[in-house]
Amino acid sequence: MHELVAKARAVGATVLIDGAQSVPHMPVDVQALDADFYAFSSHKMCGPTGFGVLYGKRAILDRMPPFMGGGEMIREVTTHGSKWNDLPYKFEAGTPAIAEAVGLGAAVDYLQGVGMDWVHAHERELTAYAYARLSEVEGLRILGPGPDRRGGLIAFTLQGVHPHDVSAVLDREGVAVRAGHHCAQPLHDRHCIPASVRASFYLYNTPEEVDVLANALHKAQDIFAF
Ligand SMILES: Cc1ncc(COP(=O)(O)O)c(C=O)c1O
Repeated sequence: MHELVAKARAVGATVLIDGAQSVPHMPVDVQALDADFYAFSSHKMCGPTGFGVLYGKRAILDRMPPFMGGGEMIREVTTHGSKWNDLPYKFEAGTPAIAEAVGLGAAVDYLQGVGMDWVHAHERELTAYAYARLSEVEGLRILGPGPDRRGGLIAFTLQGVHPHDVSAVLDREGVAVRAGHHCAQPLHDRHCIPASVRASFYLYNTPEEVDVLANALHKAQDIFAF
């Protein structure tokens, strides 16, 4: 990200980072990154759904007009015009999602209690183990780089078995994976694959669960492969 931010700065671009897949998995310092905006979702980090965070640099947010009208975002209304409230209220029109904010706060406290360095290290360890175990499955193709250059997930295809069939068998074995395009349909088109299966790991996953996944994949192959 540091490299990308520097390149964006070099051409005078404003930088908005989608951190939905970073903040839940590793320590992130938005100021060190020098991002103008940084967004992340609550439900990917043990928090409630329908909620998230948008960090923005104060100087930019001060210059921006509100995008939505409602209670609390207004300081003064006259028949001639309106004045906006201070940050962050200017952008928080109406009754906020209070329960979700409290829930996300609890999730943040929980994750910080565990330690984001620990979460990151745990995922790296599990991913390396899963990479090794999945590499042993005949006909399984892991998409993307080696274990050192990926986040806590492995997307793959199994020769001769449609990804949705793979996920159905894994589901029966108690393993929840995702099958589909994973918001990256053009990338799948480019690799000439209809879809892929994706196993992802978080702080609660264990090496034993990776073993269950690997064993279930052997089963899927026995059932479907020809
Ligand atoms: C990188 C990234 N950005 C954005 C989203 C969407 O987040 P939300 O479900 O909070 O809209 C996702 C989740 O699918 C994601 O992985």
